[in-house]
Amino acid sequence: MDRNLALELVRVTEAAALACGRWVGKGDKMSADEAATEAMRRTLDAVEISGTVVIGEGEMDQAPMLYIGERLGRGNGQDVDIAVDPLEGTNICAKGLNGSIATIALSPKGGFLHAPDMYMEKIAVGPTAKGAIDINATPTTNLQRVADAKKCYIEDLTVVILDRPRHDKIVEEIRKAGARIHLITDGDVAPAIAAAVEGSGVDMLLGIGGAPEGVLAAAALKCMGGDMQGRLIFMNDDERDRAAGMGIDNFERIYQCEEMASGDVVFAATGVTNGDLLRGIRYYSGGAETHSIVMRSKTRTIRFVEARHSFDFKPKY
Ligand code: FBP
Repeated sequence: MDRNLALELVRVTEAAALACGRWVGKGDKMSADEAATEAMRRTLDAVEISGTVVIGEGEMDQAPMLYIGERLGRGNGQDVDIAVDPLEGTNICAKGLNGSIATIALSPKGGFLHAPDMYMEKIAVGPTAKGAIDINATPTTNLQRVADAKKCYIEDLTVVILDRPRHDKIVEEIRKAGARIHLITDGDVAPAIAAAVEGSGVDMLLGIGGAPEGVLAAAALKCMGGDMQGRLIFMNDDERDRAAGMGIDNFERIYQCEEMASGDVVFAATGVTNGDLLRGIRYYSGGAETHSIVMRSKTRTIRFVEARHSFDFKPKY
């Protein structure tokens, strides 16, 4: 993978974040998502890749753009698969709450798990706890193993969990075990990545969220040397049929990080609203500031990019 692609990708997530930044707090998640998607599509088409969307906004008949199977890029570059979430955390953005991001990842052809739009059980940690997690073990066992790996007490650990009734039992168990919990209303990609950033205040992501978001988190964690496991959760036969149609034959399978995102992966994300990982868009007279992360699995270089965008010299988002 061309290393310059990483910096190209930051432009793409910056454009998406700047576009939906205008919709923060406006109570209209559809318009926010549309703005981010349109900006991401436009900027991606200027990148020298020959790309195919494998994780996107939906299937062809459900999504007007960035749909699964859509071809993107100038068509004259490397053949890559693309995973996107132009606005991860649409509700958060609409309400002006913490934690929404614009994100994208590229892999060589066939590098990403073609995860259907359904749920996935996830456990994610940073590099110091790599190899310590087991999705089949209880939360208490995982907490003890992660605490041992990080040479700290369970009480020192902070676990991020989506605030959903389906998580009531694990929340109760984690509280009993003594760890701290950060319940979030939406957006589980950024906290999975934050678990791999020393000093972010997040040690682990646990619970059930979207499967496409799981693949994006795995792409990021692979670039950071973190660890993640995921298992698809099927709610009905229709979901099993859809998964089978996307090539999934073992419905019980536990996917390791490397199986969800393999090969030379590049990942980028830009903050839309403030979060544990990234600051949100900040406007000032004549422009706006963005805060992004970009990384490559090949070198494990992690760059945080602060950019100031002058609206006098580029499109006014
Ligand atoms: P959107 O950006 O599509 O709104 O999804 C946000 C999200 O919170 C994900 O981060 C998470 O994985 C999933 O939705 C959780 O789904 P649900 O809201 O059904 O529990």
